Amino acid sequence: MSDSATSTDRMSVVLRERATAAMERAYAPYSGFRVGAALLGTDGSVTEGCNVENASYPAGICAERGAVAAAVARGIRSFEQIAIVTEAGDPTPPCGICRQVLVEFAPHLVIISATRGGDEARWTLDALLPSAFTPSSLGRT
Ligand code: THU
Repeated sequence: MSDSATSTDRMSVVLRERATAAMERAYAPYSGFRVGAALLGTDGSVTEGCNVENASYPAGICAERGAVAAAVARGIRSFEQIAIVTEAGDPTPPCGICRQVLVEFAPHLVIISATRGGDEARWTLDALLPSAFTPSSLGRT
């Protein structure tokens, strides 16, 4: 294994741990489905998010979008990877709205989804959201 592959794998272990810790802080009294996310910035920063539900159900926010909002508030706008952890039996992909929010900042994002048992799935955002509507669709770079 090359040095860079080794450090990428080490980073994804850290991200999974941070996403798991964020999942423990999720506020999901309505669905009971806790989600944690950890977003790796191109600057090496890690920003977490968790789902935060609301008595007015549509006001709830997903973990991935929470992580993006928190990172942008810290001044971080470009990302390499996101780790997602849930308590589901199989790794779960990000929902459609989160894919759209992620593509705004990181069209080639690597997405790693893990269960608590350690099963893992990986995708790229390009594969999960092909032909996306992006800033360039509005003539912006
Ligand atoms: N959820 C996420 O946090 N991320 C996703 O990508 C899918 C769904 C949350 C929303 C809601 O709080 C709960 O999981 C059940 O849908």
